[in-house]
Amino acid sequence: MTYVVTENCIKCKYTDCVEVCPVDCFYEGANMLVIHPDECIDCGVCVPECPADAIVPDSDHAATDEWLALNRKYADLWPNVISKKAPPADADVNNGRSGKLVEFSAEPAQESQEFTAATVQSE
Ligand code: SF4
Ligand code: F3S
Repeated sequence: MTYVVTENCIKCKYTDCVEVCPVDCFYEGANMLVIHPDECIDCGVCVPECPADAIVPDSDHAATDEWLALNRKYADLWPNVISKKAPPADADVNNGRSGKLVEFSAEPAQESQEFTAATVQSE
């Protein structure tokens, strides 16, 4: 069992969810987050925190095999995110809009990449 981030996170990325996760298992892409299915402990506390209702248990009909696979794939590729960030300026406009899957970005979060580079340089 795991919880799964689904389509409505795309271009919303409010990040309220990461603040409450007891095991810090959210990973950040350029325009959405995913949950690492092997790290999630199924507590469910992130679900009511998401203003976009984008997080569902894998037993939910919205947690399709495609979304499960996408969460697993990108949790291994994207940087971990543990604190809330400012959402995109147009997050509220995109909340609930249909057809966002085609706008999914496979790129990792830009800020985290810069932070990693700066961290490496200072060591
Ligand atoms: Fe984290 Fe719990 Fe949400 Fe899993 S269900 S992502 S452990 S807050
Ligand atoms: Fe996405 Fe909701 Fe978290 S929009 S970043 S799953 S709070």
